[in-house]
Amino acid sequence: MRPTVFVIFGVTGDLTERKLLSALYNLARAKKLPRDFYIAGFARRAWDGDVLRRRFEEAIKKYVPKCEAKILRMLLHKVFYVRGNFEEQGDYLKLKEFLDGLEKRTGSHMDKVFYLAVAPSYYPVIFEELGKCGLAQCCRGNQSKLLIEKPFGKDLRSAVRLNKILQRHFEESQIYRIDHYLAKEPVQNILAFRFANGIFEHLWNKKYIKEIRITVAEKIGIESRGGYYEQSGVLLDMVQNHILQLLALTCMEEPLSLAAESIRDKKAELLKYVRVSLDKKDVKKAQYLGYRKEEKVSPKSATETYAALKFSIGNRRWRGVPVFVQSGKALGEKLTEISVEFMMPRAQFLGDARHELSPNVLRLRIQPNEAILLDFQVKTPKFETELHLAEMRFNYSSHFGGAAPEAYERIIFDALAGNQLLFVRADSAIRQWQIISRLQKSWHKYPLGFYKPGKLGVELQ
Ligand SMILES: NC(=O)c1ccc[n+]([C@@H]2O[C@H](COP(=O)([O-])OP(=O)(O)OC[C@H]3O[C@@H](n4cnc5c(N)ncnc54)[C@H](OP(=O)(O)O)[C@@H]3O)[C@@H](O)[C@H]2O)c1
Repeated sequence: MRPTVFVIFGVTGDLTERKLLSALYNLARAKKLPRDFYIAGFARRAWDGDVLRRRFEEAIKKYVPKCEAKILRMLLHKVFYVRGNFEEQGDYLKLKEFLDGLEKRTGSHMDKVFYLAVAPSYYPVIFEELGKCGLAQCCRGNQSKLLIEKPFGKDLRSAVRLNKILQRHFEESQIYRIDHYLAKEPVQNILAFRFANGIFEHLWNKKYIKEIRITVAEKIGIESRGGYYEQSGVLLDMVQNHILQLLALTCMEEPLSLAAESIRDKKAELLKYVRVSLDKKDVKKAQYLGYRKEEKVSPKSATETYAALKFSIGNRRWRGVPVFVQSGKALGEKLTEISVEFMMPRAQFLGDARHELSPNVLRLRIQPNEAILLDFQVKTPKFETELHLAEMRFNYSSHFGGAAPEAYERIIFDALAGNQLLFVRADSAIRQWQIISRLQKSWHKYPLGFYKPGKLGVELQ
C-alpha cells in the first residue's frame, strides 16, 4: 500500500474514540496498514499532539483487550493534531500546510484519506472547502479519498444536493459512502453463499420462495443518542440504508465478476425494482414506552423506534414475493437476520399427515452468533409417520474459530486499498432515498403505537 496520511475530521468525538482508534490499532497489529502511515486529527478543541496521543492511548487500552505496548508506541509516534473549525476556510489551508509539511519532512508523497466522523450537517461545507483548497485533487499519482459516515442526507432532496456538491470536487472513485453493515463478515458472505453453491441459486426465485423477512432488532434503547434519533427514527436510521442494502444483496442478480463495480451495478439494478407498500395494513410504526423520557427526547415525541414494512420487487425473478422488514430498539434481543421461507412441498404421499408440514426456512444470521441455519423436515423414528422440524447449522465461530475483522477495520482497510465494493455508490444512495421518500411523505399519517421494551414481536399497547 502507498504511503498514506489518514485525516480524521471529528477526532475528539465519540465515533473516533469507540470505533476508529481500536480499528486502526488492530490493523497495525495485523500488519494491514501501509508502512508509511500517519494519522492527523482535526477538531475544534484546544488539544495538541500530546493530548491527542494521550487520549488515543487511553481509548485503545479501553477498547482493545491485551493491547501490545510496542504496536501502540509505533502508532502513536505518527499521530498529529491540527486544531480547526470546519466552517473556517483558513483552517483548511492550515491543514493543507501541515500535510504539505509532512510530505516534505518524510520525503514521500502520500495518499490522503479523509474520514468524516462528524455531524452530517457539516458535510456540505467540508466537501466544498476540501475542494476549494485543493485537497480533493489527486496529484503526482497520489489519491485523495473521502470516507463519509451515514446518514447520507435526511431526505431525497438533501441527498441529491450532497451528491452534487461532492461531484463538483471529487470523482466517484474517490468517494466511500460507509454502510458499516456491508462490512460485516456474514453480509459479505451472502453473495458467496448464493452464487458459489450449486444448491440454492436454482431455487432463489418466486417459483420456490414464498417470502423473505429481514429483521434488525436491537436490545438497547437509544442510550444517549436522543438528539440524533429524534431526527431520524428507525425508518431513516435502519431501513433507508442498512436494510435496503441487505435486501439488495439478498435479491440481486449474479454479477459478472467479483469486481466492485460489477457487484455495485447489480445492486443498483435490483433497487430500481424495489417498492415499499403504502397500504395501511402493511405499515406498522411504534415507540417503546419510556422513550419520551430519554435524554434529549421531546415529551411529546412522535418518532418511531420500531417499524414493520412490506416491500415488493417488480422484476421477473421476484414479482409477487413479499419482503417483510422489521426493525426496532428496546426489543429485548439483539438479532439481525435474513430469513427465506420456501414454498410448502406438495408431499402428496403423506396423505392426512400433510397438515404436520412446516416450510423450509433458511436463515442467514448476521449477528449475534453469526450462522447459517436451515430448517427441514425429518420423519421421527417411530412406527407411525410423524414429522419433525430439524435444523442444519453452520456456525462461523465454531467452524473458523477466532474473530473476523471488525466492520470498521474492514472499512478502513478497503478504503486504504482502494476497494469500493463495500461502499454505497451514488446511484444506490439516491435510489434508496427514492424508495423511502414515498413513505416519508405520508409517514405522519400512519398511527403510532406503543410497546413495552423487552420483547421481540412487538405487541402494541
Ligand atoms: N457514535 C457512533 O457510534 C456512530 C455510529 C455510526 C455513525 N456515526 C456517525 O458518525 C458521525 C460522528 O458521530 P459522533 O458520535 O462521533 O459525534 P460527536 O461525538 O458529536 O463528535 C463530533 C466531532 O466533530 C467535531 N466538531 C463539531 N463541530 C465542529 C466544528 N465546527 N469544527 C471542527 N470540529 C467540529 C467535534 O470536535 P470538538 O468537540 O472538539 O469541536 C467532535 O470531534 C455522525 O455522522 C454520526 O451519525 C456515529
